[in-house]
Amino acid sequence: MSDDWNDYAEGWDGNSDVRRYADQAFAALDALAGITGGGWQEKRVLDFGCGTGLLSGKLAPHVREVVAADTSDRMIAMLKGKALSNVKALHTDILDGSAAREGLTGFDLICASSVCSFLPDYPGAAALLAGLLNSGGMFVQWDWLDRGAGSSGLTAQQVREALRDAGLGAIRVEQAFEMESRGQTMPVLMGSGLRAAP
Ligand SMILES: C[S@@+](CC[C@H](N)C(=O)[O-])C[C@H]1O[C@@H](n2cnc3c(N)ncnc32)[C@H](O)[C@@H]1O
Repeated sequence: MSDDWNDYAEGWDGNSDVRRYADQAFAALDALAGITGGGWQEKRVLDFGCGTGLLSGKLAPHVREVVAADTSDRMIAMLKGKALSNVKALHTDILDGSAAREGLTGFDLICASSVCSFLPDYPGAAALLAGLLNSGGMFVQWDWLDRGAGSSGLTAQQVREALRDAGLGAIRVEQAFEMESRGQTMPVLMGSGLRAAP
């Protein structure tokens, strides 16, 4: 398996597992935050590690703007090719500290779908991203559940601690759904928290 996400960009949307993951993540988010209920039309969203924008595309009809950011230029090129009207696709590394300088702040919702467990400093990333939220804004992540014995992903405790250390409140960490792949059942954790008023 390549560790360069660019190598997966072209075939990403053609992978039914990847599409199903995005479908289930969006359904879990909708159940949590009522995205499709009509109350999000003026909200700004950051899809951090957006890939080809599978989640961005589901969010876009229900919000004012989705900023979709990824460090893979080929993933971003695939997303730009979709020409989604209120999705701003950015090839950038938000974690390098430039986000606030570039105006990438003031979000009502930040999503990270299958991104956090791949980051070298997940707790640091959670803290930085929490700082880009408006008061009352929500951070939500989905990651494979680390079940030990060499499996990759995050434990519920790692997520709970990172979100707490990021200063978020109303933290929820739960198994949101499962994926079946090559005869294996792989649970997916959803972690969420709210930025409190200053
Ligand atoms: C497993 S893919 C998930 C893509 C997309 N969220 C989805 O669910 O289809 C992980 C993505 O995270 C991106 N990524 C990794 N590190 C990143 C970082 N520091 N900032 C932004 N994106 C990053 C990769 O380029 C890749 O597109």
